[in-house]
Amino acid sequence: MTRYALVPLEMDWFFEDIDKYLKREEFQEFQEYAGVDYRNILDPKKRDAIADKICNASSIFYEIRRAKGGAFFPEKVYREDVNFYSKAPKWVPEADELILYRPMCYSLNLRFKTISEMIVPYVLERRFKDREGIIIGNLGCGLGRDLHESVRRYSGQISRVISIDSDGEAIQHGLREMPDQLEGKIKFYEGNFLMGNPEGEKYDFCLLVGVICPLANESAVYLLSLVRKQMSDKATIAVSSSSFRMHHHDPLCSFNIQLTSQWALNCRTEDDLYGILSDAGFGRIEIFSEPSGFNYIGIGTKI
Ligand SMILES: C[S@@+](CC[C@H](N)C(=O)[O-])C[C@H]1O[C@@H](n2cnc3c(N)ncnc32)[C@H](O)[C@@H]1O
Repeated sequence: MTRYALVPLEMDWFFEDIDKYLKREEFQEFQEYAGVDYRNILDPKKRDAIADKICNASSIFYEIRRAKGGAFFPEKVYREDVNFYSKAPKWVPEADELILYRPMCYSLNLRFKTISEMIVPYVLERRFKDREGIIIGNLGCGLGRDLHESVRRYSGQISRVISIDSDGEAIQHGLREMPDQLEGKIKFYEGNFLMGNPEGEKYDFCLLVGVICPLANESAVYLLSLVRKQMSDKATIAVSSSSFRMHHHDPLCSFNIQLTSQWALNCRTEDDLYGILSDAGFGRIEIFSEPSGFNYIGIGTKI
């Protein structure tokens, strides 16, 4: 959120090697679909026009610009429905089709699968073996789908999931789309999760997916140390972070995001995420990755 420092834009790598990037097939194709010419990018007046054209053509970049990331961008990807929630004014389907199957978007699906099918089960089976009455905070939950599968599967262990997001529309969609059988187990609240659990209890397990990605490392440490205060003794946290591979393996998306929304991801290493969790007061840290390596997921225990 705004009082936390975001990482600065980092686009020099593109400008320094612009000829190399423009020869790449995906850049050429995308330029054609969006009707832009990246060679004009060095002219600041033309740069804004290029960004506008991209957002007019692509519903994905339109949404990223609208919400500076936000919960509805990943939802477009999970659903493979780029016009879910918002639509680019002069939508060019081919432009989004190309972006939807680029590694950046693909990695979001892998992140979702890894968290819901591997990380959360791992935490519940290994770190909370045989424990019941677990209270989970899904902080910055978006539409809250990361925990659906686990709440079904571990309903005996999980007492409640408190899902909080400051985006009221995401909360409304999350509520409407939650499977009936999970009602009563998953509670949604609109608000700032730093204000604590609206139901008052401490969390045994906190999940933050896509929340610290744009934050400078010191801000991420501060945010997680505030979350730590809301957690019970020896509680567990799981946090996702974008990785340094993003720039190298999907330069088109990495550049477009920054150009169109003036918003960047903090492309961290495993050591960065380890250090953030450690500095925020967590031990027994393990760092996982989804299969594409674009996102890390760090687990830690409150010490
Ligand atoms: C990139 S989205 C990820 C949503 C979801 N966790 C997912 O993986 O699809 C990050 C979300 O965190 C929310 N958020 C960030 N900081 C927050 C805070 N302090 N309180 C409540 N929500 C917050 C944003 O509103 C946004 O919906």
